[in-house]
Amino acid sequence: MKHISLFNQESPMEELPQTASMLGLGKLFVKRDDMLTPEFGGCKVRNLNRQFTHALENGADTLLMAARVGSNAVAAASLFAKKYGLRVSAILKPQVVSYTCRFNLEIIAAAGTEIIPVPAGTLLHSKSPTVTREMTRLTSEGRRPQFVGFGGGDIQAALAQASAVKEMWMQIKSNGIEELEKIYVAGASFSTAAGMAAGLSLLGIKSKLVIVGLAHEDAPDDHFFNKANEAAKLANVEWGNTTDHNMPIDAPQFHCAFKEAFGEITEPLQIESLDEVKALQLDPVYTRKAFSYMMQDAGQHAGKNCLFWHTGNSRPWPEYLIRPELEATLSALLI
Ligand SMILES: Cc1ncc(COP(=O)(O)O)c(C=O)c1O
Repeated sequence: MKHISLFNQESPMEELPQTASMLGLGKLFVKRDDMLTPEFGGCKVRNLNRQFTHALENGADTLLMAARVGSNAVAAASLFAKKYGLRVSAILKPQVVSYTCRFNLEIIAAAGTEIIPVPAGTLLHSKSPTVTREMTRLTSEGRRPQFVGFGGGDIQAALAQASAVKEMWMQIKSNGIEELEKIYVAGASFSTAAGMAAGLSLLGIKSKLVIVGLAHEDAPDDHFFNKANEAAKLANVEWGNTTDHNMPIDAPQFHCAFKEAFGEITEPLQIESLDEVKALQLDPVYTRKAFSYMMQDAGQHAGKNCLFWHTGNSRPWPEYLIRPELEATLSALLI
């Protein structure tokens, strides 16, 4: 089976010298996953390479996804799935309205994804009644659905992120850097962070992973460590390592930036007047919150090198799609 590749190149590694100097850091790097493809960027695009490949290997023709309406994962899947003969059906919960949220819902609608709206409290794990019902319905309609975890978070996502750490580390070393004190990343389901923790452990990298949580108040628990351990074991084999992986997963630092799930922050960032920060086009729902926390926290690491992982999408509306008027049932999901 041919592995799908939505992008052919590594995402860029950039340095922000002015920000580093204002924060008193040695160097500050940004891993620009937001630039992964010209149409749409972010950690979810990386994950789709594996999720599409996995679905096709299982003979699927449809991805059944579950998320909030402003999901980057569903927006990215909606944009790219057709290229590989896959359709997307998405069970979507309401979300607090923001620019990012509306933008993503408009992409989902414009790309022709089937939308199944559900109330906010609906359980949407793989064995939940709603997901089971939709899997059965799709099958009865002659489709071959593959379920992807809530918000695009699953073991494939974690494995994609473990490999992303390998890519990041090669770039850091080619900048002549041997150590990163901290790596800051936005977290919701923590699949992204679990994969990164696995990659750091496998490569023996000592940097502290800092997760800025946006979806709930809970710090990473057993679920996070189990996912990270599973990803480390699988990646160890995929990377062709012949010895067992027994390195423990380092406990991440956690900061809760949750006030309401996936709402936007409107307070200005202390340094967003810097052109190099403006150029990052941080979104108000995920990456701006993570960047904002990094600015508070990095002050304690004078002279050290840190990295901010840009997991968001910074691309404008894809030209080839007509921007839709949202119909009433969809607008009602923006609360
Ligand atoms: C921009 C962005 N950053 C980070 C995350 C966090 O990903 P995860 O759900 O794997 O923690 C998401 C997904 O919700 C996202 O869209």
